[in-house]
Amino acid sequence: MNHNIGRFIAKKRKELGLTQQKLAEKLNVSFQAVSKWENGTSIPDTLLLTQLACVLKTSVDTLVGYKVAPVTEYEKKYNGQDYYWGITPNRLCYEVMKLKPPVKPYRVLDIGCGEGKDAVFLAKNGYIVSAFDAAKKGLEKARELAQLHHVDVNFYQANINEYELVDDYDIIYSSGVFHYLTQNKRKQFVQSLKEHTTANGIHALNVFVEKPFIEAAPDREEAEQMNEPWYSGELMGYYHDWVFYEYVEEIFDCSSGGIPHKHCMDRMIAEKFLG
Ligand SMILES: C[S@@+](CC[C@H](N)C(=O)[O-])C[C@H]1O[C@@H](n2cnc3c(N)ncnc32)[C@H](O)[C@@H]1O
Repeated sequence: MNHNIGRFIAKKRKELGLTQQKLAEKLNVSFQAVSKWENGTSIPDTLLLTQLACVLKTSVDTLVGYKVAPVTEYEKKYNGQDYYWGITPNRLCYEVMKLKPPVKPYRVLDIGCGEGKDAVFLAKNGYIVSAFDAAKKGLEKARELAQLHHVDVNFYQANINEYELVDDYDIIYSSGVFHYLTQNKRKQFVQSLKEHTTANGIHALNVFVEKPFIEAAPDREEAEQMNEPWYSGELMGYYHDWVFYEYVEEIFDCSSGGIPHKHCMDRMIAEKFLG
């Protein structure tokens, strides 16, 4: 029997605060089945693996112990002692707070949280935050930052291109990450984010867009080069049925990688307006 998968299921289940009974209900199996997986006397049916990975917020590869190469070069960038992106929250966080002040425990999902500066800031301000990133090292530092600030954030590793939402959120937040979404996944992914947003919930997102007069950043990653660039207004097009609070396109200077260059970015805040 494969004992590793059982241990992994138990670990992830506990991280997500699920009992064996709760996990069993989500998968439509008995809690005895979950118990047997976890103590290594049986393994889940292959037909259940996708759903199980989804509920445990991981990938089937990770579930069955297949080691994948890091999907992001940030793994290396986050290796230093310092916080690569600093620890000052992005101004988009303040805009979220203005629109949806934490008068009740709103649930936030931070997609591509990096080293966790925004997720931790929002948690400190009373939001219930889940956050994922592909970079393990970033998540380690994010957990340290959360500990330092005495807040709980549900940080986990996931790849935006394989991610399937299970829970609903009041606020979906993402900064500097959507350009990693491959073009064939964009529409479906955004649709799923919208479906997993509560009534009057908001999305606060930004994405780098291509401009013919701006040269590619010198430190552009391989993963970015392989992806089709986003064009101006593309993000807006996915939200034609939502109310916009902001849709701005900005060109700004950047010196990441040590060489000054420019970026163009679309930033939006929109609401799932249901009256
Ligand atoms: C520009 S950083 C932004 C980090 C963070 N949102 C912030 O503003 O500090 C981009 C992040 O996307 C993550 N990333 C890259 N490819 C990814 C993928 N396929 N799935 C999930 N995250 C990914 C990187 O690890 C990195 O942390």
